[in-house]
Amino acid sequence: MCSHAYFENLLTHMTAALQKKINKNSAFNLQEELPFLERIYAKKATIAVIGLGYVGLPLVCVAHKAGHSVIGFDIDPSKIMNLNRGESYIHHISKKSIEELQENDRFSATSDFSKLKDADVILMCVPTPLSKYRDPDMSYVVQTTEMIAQHLRKDQLIILESTTYPGTSNELMKPLLESTGLTAGEDFFMGYSPEREDPGNAQFSTIKIPKVVGGLDAQSLALTKAVYDSFGIDTVPVSSLETAEAIKLTENIFRSVNIALVNELKVVFDAMGIDVWEVIEAAKTKPFGYMPFYPGPGLGGHCIPIDPFYLTWKAREFGLSTRFIELAGEVNTSMPFYVLDRLTKALDSRFQKSLKGSHILIVGVAYKKNVDDSRESPAFLIMEHLRERGVNLDYYDPFIPEIKPMREHPNLVGMIGIDLTENSLKKYDAAVIVTDHDHVDYELIVKHTAVTIDARNATRHVTRSDLREKVVKA
Ligand SMILES: NC(=O)c1ccc[n+]([C@@H]2O[C@H](COP(=O)([O-])OP(=O)(O)OC[C@H]3O[C@@H](n4cnc5c(N)ncnc54)[C@H](O)[C@@H]3O)[C@@H](O)[C@H]2O)c1
Repeated sequence: MCSHAYFENLLTHMTAALQKKINKNSAFNLQEELPFLERIYAKKATIAVIGLGYVGLPLVCVAHKAGHSVIGFDIDPSKIMNLNRGESYIHHISKKSIEELQENDRFSATSDFSKLKDADVILMCVPTPLSKYRDPDMSYVVQTTEMIAQHLRKDQLIILESTTYPGTSNELMKPLLESTGLTAGEDFFMGYSPEREDPGNAQFSTIKIPKVVGGLDAQSLALTKAVYDSFGIDTVPVSSLETAEAIKLTENIFRSVNIALVNELKVVFDAMGIDVWEVIEAAKTKPFGYMPFYPGPGLGGHCIPIDPFYLTWKAREFGLSTRFIELAGEVNTSMPFYVLDRLTKALDSRFQKSLKGSHILIVGVAYKKNVDDSRESPAFLIMEHLRERGVNLDYYDPFIPEIKPMREHPNLVGMIGIDLTENSLKKYDAAVIVTDHDHVDYELIVKHTAVTIDARNATRHVTRSDLREKVVKA
């Protein structure tokens, strides 16, 4: 995975640069500089992780397990309290992993940012959402960088992990950090390593996903690479911070565009009486030149619906437009309305019933299967529209017992999920499967509701022909 030749080349360059500085008799002190790298490899450097959410918390566990001293920082006091009590607040991170953090004195969690000066390496994992005008909301990155600047000292390495546009580290963060009078690349170092975490993916946990690493200069790169090497993670060094920033966007744009394509195919094939799921299953047997992507009720989560537009925004600075990204966004955001349309037509054609006054059950409100994260979930948009049309609405989600406060869809906040039983199901005119969590009894749902609208092919194992007739794919 790791491009060894490239990195060896880089180390040669770095050594030459060091030699040049020494020859010039500059203020550069080899004795002080080299030990930092060695300290990282020897796990004698203290690692700070700022932002203890879906990305930051697994990273804390990995760094700690590797033998580092780790300080976790968050502005959310409930997260700090939970961690210090040995409790997990993320479904797929076990209580045991958090208890392991307490087994020695190498971990602490705090909201006291003055402790940043105790850290040698600072990993930033704070949110990068879109503003209400769909521009990058960099306020979390800026606030955190300003906080780091307040406590910045010589020989610290700052690595941004948040997804962002190319230029963030160099154009936005560096000037804030240098406003302290310290110089990047001399007094302190900067790296960028995009997070590729796939929450809930048992096959690829944090430690198994190679990390792309970029640095401000050769030395920053070597230090950044050393951090992830010391965690036991494969690294892929690249030539600049901007390249590393662009890689993460490329990966997520690739997903967004391909999901849009398959969503478009779903609509077209359905009109032709062809099942897109069967098409994909067969197409993916081709051993080259095809990679399966799956249609759905629309995009959700903190990444795919948001990140591509970071590039759209940055491209405008260069007078360029991103037509693929915008078209994909358009197709994907129309999908919840496709699901609504399938539901409306099914009620009308099968039972001459309108949405108004009907009882509808939404199955799954998390943005994807087997996670407790509902950010940007298309389920909420569907639910909001159903509510507006006078539907009596309930939901079921084993991962999300209650809808927590969120900026959008305030009307849905506080709803409590129902229990899934034969009796509870009978009152619904339709169930709409938005998220296909494992271990849900889909046959029970199909059996006991009048019709099931399935946006995820979750009912594929329900084979009885009388039950299949009650399923509408959407
Ligand atoms: N969730 C994912 O699957 C995923 C995957 C890859 C990349 N990312 C990227 O990683 C970044 C973090 O995402 P996440 O899902 O972990 O977000 P999250 O909301 O789960 O966690 C962010 C944490 O940062 C904290 N925070 C906010 N401002 C802070 C500040 N000023 N100081 C300290 N803490 C602060 C919040 O309280 C929260 O606990 C984003 O850029 C996201 O795009 C996320």
